[in-house]
Amino acid sequence: MIPILARTRRGLDAARHGMTPPVVLVPTMGALHDGHRALLRRAREIAGTDGSVLVSVFVNPLQFGPGEDFGRYPRDLTEDLAICGAEGVTVVFAPDRAGMYPREQLVTVDPGPMGQVLEGASRPGFFTGVLTVVLKLFQLTLPDVAVFGQKDAQQLALVRRMTADFDLGIAIDGVPLVRDPDGLATSSRNRYLSASERATALALPAALRAGQEAAGDGSEAVLAAAGQVLDRASRGDPPLLPDYLALVDPETFAGVKPGYAGTALLLAAARAGKTRLIDNMPVTLGRE
Ligand code: PAF
Repeated sequence: MIPILARTRRGLDAARHGMTPPVVLVPTMGALHDGHRALLRRAREIAGTDGSVLVSVFVNPLQFGPGEDFGRYPRDLTEDLAICGAEGVTVVFAPDRAGMYPREQLVTVDPGPMGQVLEGASRPGFFTGVLTVVLKLFQLTLPDVAVFGQKDAQQLALVRRMTADFDLGIAIDGVPLVRDPDGLATSSRNRYLSASERATALALPAALRAGQEAAGDGSEAVLAAAGQVLDRASRGDPPLLPDYLALVDPETFAGVKPGYAGTALLLAAARAGKTRLIDNMPVTLGRE
């Protein structure tokens, strides 16, 4: 199936009129990989054979800070369209910057306290940019359901919260993250890594697995076990440069307190060379 390509709002409106419900939106920044394929398959599953899958492809300048990789972020619409075609996507909306932001975006979404920690602390303004573009995409495409990856766990939690707090009436579906055979979480940024940087980056999932394995000994043991792996990798060549390691309540993203029982999320961010990577794994904690 060849998807309809809409490059403008007018093109999107025309395509949207012809879409049969349910309409399932998958927002992306393109450079689609196996993790995105999992989102597209889930979207098609929700839409059924008669519903419609709408994919947006837009590298959102609002969510990149100064000195980040906006200019060199991978862009390959031809390849993205081929992947969307293979996964049964109905419409691809790929606006240019003026199409998405026809005027200066003076009013933006405040992500609140959950957006100030972890990714929000490391990348000031990031979640304001993400939630602002996601809200605009919701308004422009009017989906019944929107699908996001659990790899960006904090983003997913904030999108859920924005959708609830603003009564948007859109169901949000989260899809488990996809790993390459070597264990690295799939990401459009993985293509920046040299072979030696990639080997270094594997300490990220290894640290999270070590944390998971220590779950029986409580939350402090989880952080200590994961931290040891990251410390070792920070002395490697090339070194891994850890940004944060945290064990949080997945609903609030507040650090878990001693005695927390239930599923927590162990998250880490680190740099290998110039490439910033994030990863997360669930950890089941009992009573300490
Ligand atoms: O996860 C992403 O690719 C982006 O943050 C999103 C949700 C498409 C918003 O630009």
